[in-house]
Amino acid sequence: MQIISSSIGNYIIRNCKNDDLSSVIDVNVNTLPENYTNYFYETLLTELPEAFLVAEISDKCVGYIMCTMEYGFSNFKKLGFVKKGHVVSIAVLENHRGRGIGTALITGALFGIKSKKCDELYLEVRCSNEIAVKLYEKLGFVVKNMLKTYYKDGEDAYLMAIEFNY
Ligand code: ACO
Ligand code: ZN
Repeated sequence: MQIISSSIGNYIIRNCKNDDLSSVIDVNVNTLPENYTNYFYETLLTELPEAFLVAEISDKCVGYIMCTMEYGFSNFKKLGFVKKGHVVSIAVLENHRGRGIGTALITGALFGIKSKKCDELYLEVRCSNEIAVKLYEKLGFVVKNMLKTYYKDGEDAYLMAIEFNY
């Protein structure tokens, strides 16, 4: 596995471990309406630990990013069948935002996803989530599609993606 470890100020960005999952779930429940079963978190950690990262400070988990990998149609090449990484979820606790943790988590996940030789990485984001959309654009993602009524509450999503050239 590609080991990821970096720091910004006193925050550490590193691969998630099984013991971290309960605090990852706490961060998710406190930040996003899209929540998942414990089993789903365990599966993502087992299947793609390279791109399941946490941010911590003083041994407290304050953010995470988790991804999956799949084969499917390219978001860039017409009729191309490619290996795609998928950011399932990223979040940082409100009190810790705006300090570069989100940027560092995505940068780390990009590294982990590339270590698996994916051709692309994509994600869905609420059209109203301007902060997240801007952050993804800053890191090279582009809006490829709009998914109507994607969320349970009826909101639309942007499908955003980034292509890798090795
Ligand atoms: N607070 C924090 N940052 C702000 C604010 C604010 N009130 N307003 C604007 N920003 C900007 C910052 O200036 C920064 O831009 P910059 O890089 O140009 O300086 C950017 O937002 C935040 O960048 P980071 O500090 O790297 O990211 P942060 O640690 O704040 O995390 C995140 C960003 C994860 C999107 C966070 O806002 C969050 O957890 N939001 C709630 C959950 C969420 O929406 N997740 C994404 C859902 S889509 C998906 O999961 C695929
Ligand atoms: Zn998704």
